[in-house]
Amino acid sequence: MVEKELPTLSADKKLLKVNASSLNHRDVWITKGMYPGIKLGATMGSDAVGVDETGNEYIINPGIAWGPNEGYQSPDFRVLGVPDEGTFADYIAIDHHYIYPKPVHLSAAQAAALPLAGVTAYRAIIKRAHVQPGEKVLISGIGGGVALFAMQFALALGCEVFVTSGSEQKIQKAMDMGAKSGFLYTDADWPKKLLTTFGSVDVIVDSAAGPGFNQLTKVCNPGARIVFYGGSEGKIDGLNPQPLFWKQISILGSTMGSDQDFAQMLDFVNTHTLVPIVHRVYPFEDLHYGFNEMESATQFGKIVFQH
Ligand SMILES: NC(=O)c1ccc[n+]([C@@H]2O[C@H](COP(=O)([O-])OP(=O)(O)OC[C@H]3O[C@@H](n4cnc5c(N)ncnc54)[C@H](OP(=O)(O)O)[C@@H]3O)[C@@H](O)[C@H]2O)c1
Repeated sequence: MVEKELPTLSADKKLLKVNASSLNHRDVWITKGMYPGIKLGATMGSDAVGVDETGNEYIINPGIAWGPNEGYQSPDFRVLGVPDEGTFADYIAIDHHYIYPKPVHLSAAQAAALPLAGVTAYRAIIKRAHVQPGEKVLISGIGGGVALFAMQFALALGCEVFVTSGSEQKIQKAMDMGAKSGFLYTDADWPKKLLTTFGSVDVIVDSAAGPGFNQLTKVCNPGARIVFYGGSEGKIDGLNPQPLFWKQISILGSTMGSDQDFAQMLDFVNTHTLVPIVHRVYPFEDLHYGFNEMESATQFGKIVFQH
């Protein structure tokens, strides 16, 4: 922990005492030097719920300076927490523009799990893939923070959800939450198993990319959309163009979300009284345990810090 001066306030900023924050894979990439624009000494952390001097609780939109175009972010866009001062702190000074009332049905810890992963999942499936009620949606790596929100949103929309994971236990947990079935992505035959029992899908949500991406194209319906927001497993080598053009498949990149996406995501969560899946709440002092846990990928849901 490092002692810093309280941030200086201006008319457009509010000082919040951070009640709870949460971890994203971005934070792990930053500690490994594997993220663009790292500013040494800046405080990490993108997600938080904080309280102002009158006792009102707010949730923070970590997408800074999206800009005027709903279709894509401006060149000034950045994610809160490096290079800007982030949420792994006792206090944060944040522009009024980026704070919203905390959903009343959520605890501070549950709400702190929501911002970055929630807006990423919302934009990916609703704005980019235009998921429709009744569609079949496959979500890869369901243990991931964003992946779980994507599943909750798709289920709330009335979709039939399938998942992949590296863990049987996580597949079972996803099925307990309402997923129809799940498959181990470590089993090379998983696409065949999905196709044989349930047929092909309309939408795929992925954050791994890498060599496994080719498997995804095998389970697409004609007209399917594959939306991806990460590349944890690296480049997509050997992508076969034939099924893509023949089946009219769209591959859509997606990142975070606009201010409008964030507000709509909160509305969606409030309307459906969705509760984020929190894997574990650590005391803020034990931040490093949370990082270790995310690196080992044993979590199912978000890792939260109580400040
Ligand atoms: N572009 C954006 O706006 C944006 C926003 C958020 C995150 N991201 C990126 O998206 C990725 C996930 O972020 P996160 O915060 O959700 O991370 P996370 O909570 O650490 O989840 C990562 C998940 O990836 C899954 N995974 C690992 N290997 C896989 C494979 N071969 N195939 C399919 N899934 C696999 C694992 O699922 P199982 O545990 O089920 O095996 C793991 O739980 C990261 O690379 C992150 O940087 C991008």
